[in-house]
Order: sequence, then structure tokens, then C-alpha cells
Amino acid sequence: MTVTEALASRISVRDFLPDPVPEMLLRDILWKAARAPSGGNLQPWFVTVLTGEPLERLIARASARALEAPKGESLEYNVYPNPLVEPYYGRRFKIGEDMYHLLGIPREDKAARRAWFGNNFRFFGAPVGLFCFIDRGMEAAQWSDLGMFLQSVMLLLREAGYDSCAQEFWAMFAATIYAELNVPANLMLFCGMAIGKRNPDAAVNRLVSERAEVDEFASFKGFRGGAELS
Ligand SMILES: Cc1cc2nc3c(=O)[nH]c(=O)nc-3n(C[C@H](O)[C@H](O)[C@H](O)COP(=O)(O)O)c2cc1C
Repeated sequence: MTVTEALASRISVRDFLPDPVPEMLLRDILWKAARAPSGGNLQPWFVTVLTGEPLERLIARASARALEAPKGESLEYNVYPNPLVEPYYGRRFKIGEDMYHLLGIPREDKAARRAWFGNNFRFFGAPVGLFCFIDRGMEAAQWSDLGMFLQSVMLLLREAGYDSCAQEFWAMFAATIYAELNVPANLMLFCGMAIGKRNPDAAVNRLVSERAEVDEFASFKGFRGGAELS
């Protein structure tokens, strides 16, 4: 698989098969993903990977907590800016509408949308859940290092025939995760990640997210000649 193929075939999978993922494979992927660059080579990422009983226990504890705190616990960082202005608001709105359209859940059916959103708790049925943490002393630049590391993990999963879905959702239940996993106080949760094999029959996995054209986010200066690849 080429890097291009890995990038093109990586989608956020939201319905997984229960097939287990071998620990050796996950260790190998984390080892390789740690080749991701980081400013000053700080390598500011920490991960906890769960499967089986520990995963079930965490899911049960977070789900129980959600009954007491349906809007989540206090957030340690803002997942989105408030307000979310255009073009970002429109993009977020569109991906949500496209997803619920595929699921056949209309906008008015708030209860069904909420219930479906609750699948985040189950890591969408994935056999493995990963949490990514950063040291609280880090700055914005180091959060970008986490992104490079996590994307490397997701592409390596594709290479090995597996899928993923990054989940900022878990930031809403960070306190529960710290307590359940005995996370050292110096670490802050960035996000979770569901890992496993996609259910090929699930409509939600047919969701194709849009992207802006290159000219909407990039400008080129000083180049001569055509824009075609030679
Ligand atoms: C850091 C991060 C956190 C995300 N959190 C969630 C989440 O909590 N729940 C979810 O369903 N999707 C989540 N996503 C998936 C995004 O919605 C998805 O990447 C985006 O819509 C583009 O779609 P694609 O990944 O299929 O290309 C997250 C993605 C990233 C990168």
C-alpha cells in the first residue's frame, strides 16, 4: 500500500467488526508511528491502549457517568472555538447532516441522533480503544506533534488492514478516564481512538467527507509553468 492509498482509504469508521487486534501489531504500529516528527524531538505523546475487560470496564464507567452528567464533565480544553465561524461551521454542519442522512435519522429526531451519538461510548463497537495524552506543560506547538503521531498511527493501521476513528468525544469524560486508568496528574487527555476492522455492510461507513480544493487553502508563489504533475 502506498502512502497515497493509505491516505485515500483512511476514513473515520463508525461501525466496527468485533475481530480482535493483536497486541504485537499495535506495539509495532506505535513504534513506527513514533517516527513522526516533533519540534525539538520532544515526542510529547503518551498513549494507553485497551481491549477486553479493561475496555469494557471503562465503557461501563463512562456510560454510568453520562447518566449523571449527560452533557459531559467539565472540559479541559475547547474542542471547537466558540463561536465557530464560517467556513468551519458550514463544514461541521455538512458532515453531521451527511452522516445522519446515511443513517436515515432526520434532523427533528433529536432522541435518535443523541442515541446514535452515544455509540462514541462504545468506541463504535471497536475491539480496541486508544487514549492519547499530552503533558500539561506543553504548548500549542506540541499539540500539533500529537496530530502527526496520531495520523501516522491511522495510516499504519490502514497498511495493516485495520481502521480507526479519532474521538475528541472522550474529552467530555476526561475525569472519568483519569480515575479509571490512574492517569498521572501531569497528563491531559487529547482524544480517544477506536481501532479495529470496518463493518463493510454498515451504511455509516460509506460516509465520504468533503475537502476544500487546494486553491482554497494554499497559495503558490514563484513557480513557473503549468500546475500539472509531470
Ligand atoms: C482529533 C479528532 C477527533 C475526532 N473526534 C471525533 C469524535 O469524537 N466522534 C466522531 O464520530 N468523529 C470524530 N472525528 C472524526 C472527524 O469527524 C472526521 O475526521 C472528519 O469528519 C473527516 O472525515 P474522515 O475522517 O472520514 O475523512 C475526529 C477526528 C479527529 C482528527
